Amino acid sequence: MWERRHLHDGLTKVIESAGYRRIQMPLFEETRLFMEKSGVEIIENLYAFKDKGGRNICLRPEATASVARFYIQELRNRPKPLRIYYHGSMYRYERPQKNRYREFFQTGVELIGSDSSLADAEVIWLACRCMESFGLKYILRLNHLGVLKSLLQELNLNEAEAVEVVSLMDRGLLDELEEKVSSKEFHKLRKLRGGRSVLEKAAKIIKEFDKPLEKLDELKNLCGILEGLVEYEIDFGVARGLDYYTGIVFDIKVEDLGAQDQVCGGGRYDNLIQLFGGPQTPAVGFAFGFDRMMEALRQGEFEFGYVKNDIIVVGVGDTRIEAFKTASILRESLDAVVELEILDRSLSKTLSHASAQKTRFAVIVGEKELAESCVTVKDLKTEKQESAGLVDIVGWFEGRM
Ligand code: HAM
Repeated sequence: MWERRHLHDGLTKVIESAGYRRIQMPLFEETRLFMEKSGVEIIENLYAFKDKGGRNICLRPEATASVARFYIQELRNRPKPLRIYYHGSMYRYERPQKNRYREFFQTGVELIGSDSSLADAEVIWLACRCMESFGLKYILRLNHLGVLKSLLQELNLNEAEAVEVVSLMDRGLLDELEEKVSSKEFHKLRKLRGGRSVLEKAAKIIKEFDKPLEKLDELKNLCGILEGLVEYEIDFGVARGLDYYTGIVFDIKVEDLGAQDQVCGGGRYDNLIQLFGGPQTPAVGFAFGFDRMMEALRQGEFEFGYVKNDIIVVGVGDTRIEAFKTASILRESLDAVVELEILDRSLSKTLSHASAQKTRFAVIVGEKELAESCVTVKDLKTEKQESAGLVDIVGWFEGRM
């Protein structure tokens, strides 16, 4: 938990400094919340059951749908744009493997109420900033699902069919994909990837189609904002497993993490809030797979530091109550980790325990010293010891910590 808290606190700091505020969502939701737009992978893997009242509920598989529900019920009158974030456990009944768990944690952000490319750029920049703040090397892939989806519509597929095609792409079911869509332009486009220059190639492929060209302009705007700030690769084949995405989608991978190397995924979902009965509200966000981030840090031999105690207080002789009081005063007054010896071990055993914990100081409360209102403070690093007045024991440490 020391290590996990380190990651949690670091992510939180970066996210909060961009103006995002924490929310907390319930662990379970009505199953139907996920039935409409979550995509086959999520629906097939729901931890769903009936509760004692016969209601169909499930453990949340992700948080964006819950955020949309929460927004409609509680947050819709807040000033916009609304910047919120969360951290918590999610549940998917998947086949467990390395870095893929049935219970896992996500740290995610949602930026609600703006359809601007600046909002897309902000969340993507924020995800990258989080990676960089831990010195993690990563690969960011960008796409705009609107280009593909509107192209499919111009090819006379309806919305539901377009969603199915994107889902086939996401799951890598290429034979079925070829069968479903015959358009040469579509397949040329979905295979296109590379730097900013592929935007021009894409424009040539879809030059006959107005709506996809419009969407491509949005991707161009985004790339213009991100240029020089983050490194990215455009990949028109990136589709995400969630059906609610309408615009920009992106993912972040860390090399050498194995088959499950995606540490972050996100995108724009402009219709979800409306679909759940709220006003039409554009939104964009992402979620980090927290456990995968931990793995990436461990693999990169990230220095977590270690938990260390600063002071141990030990009573020698009949001074247990005074030792307890001294520890209480130090714990209350100092910004330090203070341990109290409570096993009645001998002084030498206590000191070797303290050294093993890398404790810096021992406060020895002995009978003789106590009679003179003093204690002995031993510096376990230098082995030096001196007497300190009990009344001003806090002051003694203040100059030395
Ligand atoms: P997602 O792509 O399903 O997106 O999940 C985001 C991240 O959670 C993944 O990139 C991965 O790192 C991690 N993850 C997913 N499943 C597992 C698992 N079984 N075990 C360990 N880690 C896992 C979402 O959940 C969206 N709600 C993200 C979002 C927020 N989009 C807009 N706003």
